[in-house]
Amino acid sequence: MGDITLIEDGRLVLIIWRGRRYLKRIAPDGSFHGKGGMLRYGDLIGKPYGIRTGDYDIFEPTIEDIVMYGLKRETQIVFPKESFYIAFRLSLKKGSRVLEVGTGSGANTFILSHAVGPDGRVVSYEQEERHFRNAKRNIERFCDWDNVELHNEEFTGFEGDAFDAAFIDVREPPTVLEKVRDAVKGSAPIGMILPTANQVSDVLKALEEGYGDTEVLEILIRKYKTVAERVVPNDRMIAHTGYLVFTRTL
Ligand SMILES: C[S@@+](CC[C@H](N)C(=O)[O-])C[C@H]1O[C@@H](n2cnc3c(N)ncnc32)[C@H](O)[C@@H]1O
Repeated sequence: MGDITLIEDGRLVLIIWRGRRYLKRIAPDGSFHGKGGMLRYGDLIGKPYGIRTGDYDIFEPTIEDIVMYGLKRETQIVFPKESFYIAFRLSLKKGSRVLEVGTGSGANTFILSHAVGPDGRVVSYEQEERHFRNAKRNIERFCDWDNVELHNEEFTGFEGDAFDAAFIDVREPPTVLEKVRDAVKGSAPIGMILPTANQVSDVLKALEEGYGDTEVLEILIRKYKTVAERVVPNDRMIAHTGYLVFTRTL
């Protein structure tokens, strides 16, 4: 085994208890109460991540755990199933600058922040003050780097340097598309997520001129039961979250 990360006061832990997952922040006097037992956080301090104590498995949270169990949701969010793919599909790398329209709860913003790293920049717009405040809190609590710039305003364009890529998550992307196009570099990838097929149709009409390499896709993940003697798909799956549209400026 390589280096060991120790659990410290103030750090996040993922607790898996009887198949359920909980993301908690360690405080010396805090505790987690499962039926018929209690886990004292003070007993975990100084121990490594990746341990089983009684009924509780203790892991270091992944970025997916943080999105799913840490961020407070006040809007529909982009789930990791899509957001991990989006970050690579937009060709984001360390140091990239990306524009986002529709911060919502900041779930996708959080993944963009990870993708561009400490020297990159995520500039994200949210018009509703309530959602902006919640997203700001989520970003301050969970982002590793100070690389996110949140604007509490309707997106009407951007005056600074052109972005490497952009992502749009608003009800009617055609209303902001041209302004986004003006804010990115030539050939830059632009992604969108849309819950309904008629919205996709409207977007495709708006992309007929000035855009190329357009693609529409869905991501379906089918998980399997992890019983070695009987490996079969889970009976239920999340069938629909949204359609993804990717295009590039011409
Ligand atoms: C579905 S939510 C975005 C969720 C977000 N992608 C996430 O993963 O948490 C859409 C958000 O876009 C915001 N919005 C809609 N039109 C906008 C605009 N023109 N400028 C800025 N924000 C906008 C809405 O207020 C709403 O909070």
